[in-house]
Amino acid sequence: MSGGPISRRRALGLLGLGTAGAAGWATGLGAPPNGRLQPAAQGQELAEPRVLASRDGLLNVRLVAAPGVRLAGRDTTAWGFNGTSPGPTLRVRPGDLLRLRLVNHIDQPTNLHTHGLHVSPSGNSDNPFITIEPGDSYDYAIRIPARHPAGTFWYHPHHHGTVADQIFAGLVGALLVEGVGGEADVPVSGDRLLLVTDTTLDGAGRVASPTTMARMMGREGELVLVNGQHQPVITVAAGSVQRWRVINGCVSRVLPLRLEGHRLTQVALDGVFLPAPVDRDQVVLAPGNRADLLVRPTGSGQYALVSDPYDRGGLGMMDGGPSAGGPVTLVTLAAGPATTPPSVPATLPAPAVPQGPVTGQRRLTFAMGMARRGMGGMSFTIDGRTYDPNRDDQSVAFGTAEEWTVVNTSPMDHPFHLHAWPFHVLAGSAGVPPAGVLQDVVLVPARGWVRLRIPFSDFPGRTVFHCHILDHEDLGMMATVNVRD
Ligand code: C2O
Ligand code: CU
Ligand code: CU
Repeated sequence: MSGGPISRRRALGLLGLGTAGAAGWATGLGAPPNGRLQPAAQGQELAEPRVLASRDGLLNVRLVAAPGVRLAGRDTTAWGFNGTSPGPTLRVRPGDLLRLRLVNHIDQPTNLHTHGLHVSPSGNSDNPFITIEPGDSYDYAIRIPARHPAGTFWYHPHHHGTVADQIFAGLVGALLVEGVGGEADVPVSGDRLLLVTDTTLDGAGRVASPTTMARMMGREGELVLVNGQHQPVITVAAGSVQRWRVINGCVSRVLPLRLEGHRLTQVALDGVFLPAPVDRDQVVLAPGNRADLLVRPTGSGQYALVSDPYDRGGLGMMDGGPSAGGPVTLVTLAAGPATTPPSVPATLPAPAVPQGPVTGQRRLTFAMGMARRGMGGMSFTIDGRTYDPNRDDQSVAFGTAEEWTVVNTSPMDHPFHLHAWPFHVLAGSAGVPPAGVLQDVVLVPARGWVRLRIPFSDFPGRTVFHCHILDHEDLGMMATVNVRD
């Protein structure tokens, strides 16, 4: 990187982008010739992807990544797994083996990552360095540890350079780990998956390509979908408790969730139960984050679950992106007549946060600067470098716990994400109190920092950490960590 951190205004000037729209969609030259795909009638009941569940300790699945799925009730050329976007929901239990054959029927290299799972990153397990060429397939074998926490996780491609494109095109799916034995789930009358994605489709149902500017900002799609549907409805009986497992599968969009007329009772973060339920007016999910929410309708009526506007910061003073508008409706809760809502348990089966000494401290810097060569580009770096899969950026001794301070010198928020080893957030410049559980994505505010405690336990191996604004990851804001035995 040639320069230090720069201001939004200066970046804007240097890029000569005074008036460009942040959304910046191109489907050809200039305005899209076919306009935009109009979602089919809203108000359909929320559907869920097909569930593939393990039996006798094994889940054997074949996932074919290919074009041609229905989104927003329309036929599109977007991509899915086994014909749908999201792909099938994979349900496993601690101790299971997930055998997954990924068949690549898209026109570019891909691979698969099991986001949030505490599993080995080596060999044919959750290894982000694998490349599966078009027409090829690959056999993953991912052993879920016997003591893996129950919860809500997800899978998506992780081929550096095209991660954002492939997720934006529809390649996502949920991965649920069921509780076993005494680790009972909270009693609920409905357990729903809400996998939120966003995309932009032209009138012919083709996924739009973002402009360079939109990539640098982190693209936000014009259509926000839940399980591939546009603004579906969840109809619930009076007096029921619903568990909504919300996954932010958007490439860049932060989701500040709010339910009209209700407070949200959060019971899990990034898949894992909190020590106790927390009532909030708003639950903010960075890209990659998950929240499990208990929803207890307070009376008959229609209540929208919305995503409020969120300012992620940016490169310039252009706040014309979709999230700068009004709230976006994700789903509508259609509730029956009021009864006394059932109570929520006072405590939850939260896994213990690992304790013990910290053996190392590191400081990492996420930064944006002017790209070294040419005009019109920004560099997105960690410790002044862009991603190189062949370089070990951090070497850690297996079995230790470390304290990492992640500093963001840029005028934009960056969600920090580490594969394989979830971490405990100790503190941060935003003053958000620690959640008290391990998590895997945390928003590092513009010109702010977070401090993490990371237990590098259970398996050694080499993997990556990165910004989960996946355009930034593809532009190089990713680094490797080698946990050596
Ligand atoms: Cu959602 Cu590197 O991952
Ligand atoms: Cu991940
Ligand atoms: Cu970023």
